[in-house]
Amino acid sequence: MLAPAMGAHAQVVALIYCCLWCAGAAAVAASVGSRQQLAVRKHLRRINKPPVKSIQSPDGDIIDCVHISHQPAFDHPFLKNHTIQLRPAFHPEGLYDESKVASEPSEKKPSTISQLWHQNGRCPEGTVPIRRTRVEDVFRASSVKRYGRKKPRAIPKPRSADPDLINESGHQHAIAYVEGDKYYGAKAIINVWEPRIQQPNEFSLSQLWILGGSFGEDLNSIEAGWQVSPDLYGDNNTRLFTYWTSDAYQATGCYNLLCSGFIQINSNIAMGATISPISDYSGSQYDISILVWKDLKEGNWWMQFGQDFVLGYWPSFLFSYLADSASMVEWGGEVVNSQPDGEHTATGMGSGHFPEEGFSKASYFRNIQIVDESNNLRSPKDVGSFTEQSNCYDVRNGNNGDWGSYFYYGGPGRSPNCQ
Ligand SMILES: *[C@@H]1O[C@H](CO)[C@@H](O)[C@H](O)[C@H]1NC(C)=O
Ligand SMILES: *[C@@H]1O[C@H](CO)[C@@H](O)[C@H](O)[C@H]1NC(C)=O
Ligand SMILES: *[C@@H]1O[C@H](CO)[C@@H](O)[C@H](O)[C@H]1NC(C)=O
Repeated sequence: MLAPAMGAHAQVVALIYCCLWCAGAAAVAASVGSRQQLAVRKHLRRINKPPVKSIQSPDGDIIDCVHISHQPAFDHPFLKNHTIQLRPAFHPEGLYDESKVASEPSEKKPSTISQLWHQNGRCPEGTVPIRRTRVEDVFRASSVKRYGRKKPRAIPKPRSADPDLINESGHQHAIAYVEGDKYYGAKAIINVWEPRIQQPNEFSLSQLWILGGSFGEDLNSIEAGWQVSPDLYGDNNTRLFTYWTSDAYQATGCYNLLCSGFIQINSNIAMGATISPISDYSGSQYDISILVWKDLKEGNWWMQFGQDFVLGYWPSFLFSYLADSASMVEWGGEVVNSQPDGEHTATGMGSGHFPEEGFSKASYFRNIQIVDESNNLRSPKDVGSFTEQSNCYDVRNGNNGDWGSYFYYGGPGRSPNCQ
């Protein structure tokens, strides 16, 4: 409060002083803001390549059809002179025996699945569809540098189920896994759901991991599946994704095509695009098939989506251990538990229901397979399972004629048994 003795002149001076200070503070804020905006725009110019054609998806995404040789991979210095492989030199043996397995009971036969943006168009041959990154996508990340990346040390390490792991950056898993051999690929058919996400900084995903090395700072990982991640995409839609890292998520790798690495050759499927439709509780079930395998001639790791779509490959040179083979394969779910309000998150994994509810209620992985040293795709032996807190998210595996090696997994997160 101004002292009554202060004259009109003093009041005006005080007022002017205050205004100058306010203006100064605003200018400082604006320059920090515009420096950040500049960095964001520069980053967007680097990752959004000029499209041949753009398609507006019903979910608000823009899918850019980018000429195959202009995709982000070719910003990588090691790929400057790279000749794109238009098909793998090797497929695993046994891949196409699957048509025989069409004998599933009809009520258990899930329908085919697609990407939402296909409703409004397709990309021409010779281009690859890329989800356009927008200013607001990057602003949701903690920094431009962290955009499109996982936090370090988020990998599930089954054997050491010590309590410390439960809290390792809040990531929780319910997985099946194999280890102790050399693996040259993995496959799974994954039930697709849209689990509830309690907090925008949390996510829920269902994927396979192809891992090389021990769980040190140089862990190599190739990952693919579906995810719901409000921070990464700005909504709660279920999206197809991939991830890779060669140093345990520290400095290398990213989701989808958000950095240079993965070379896409397919014009039909966009990484990070919404999958549609998704399964209904007690209703129609949908699943996607993902295969990742190593081309034994060129050494590259390829990915196939469904029966028909070879998406592209991760060049061998991106990796150290995986330049040879994988030492472990994992399949299953992962959520981030940020302990909102000091309690366990209510973010769901899988369908948000526990495995014992079974088909059409709990989420599943079926026909899980590995590619062995003889390049054969086969059912894995000695499948282990792992979860940090089975009262929050659980996993149950099994084996039968139609589904081969399979498991149900997931859960609702917070409940009277999971606080
Ligand atoms: C690419 O090719 C040019 C010309 O042949 C050569 O000078 C350059 O070293 C090559 N770069 C890489 C990364 O191999
Ligand atoms: C995780 O760590 C936080 C503090 O860092 C602690 O309050 C909480 O109880 C821990 N949760 C579990 C499940 O151990
Ligand atoms: C995502 O889901 C949460 C929880 O149901 C909801 O609070 C939030 O508004 C949703 N976000 C968007 C962008 O729809």
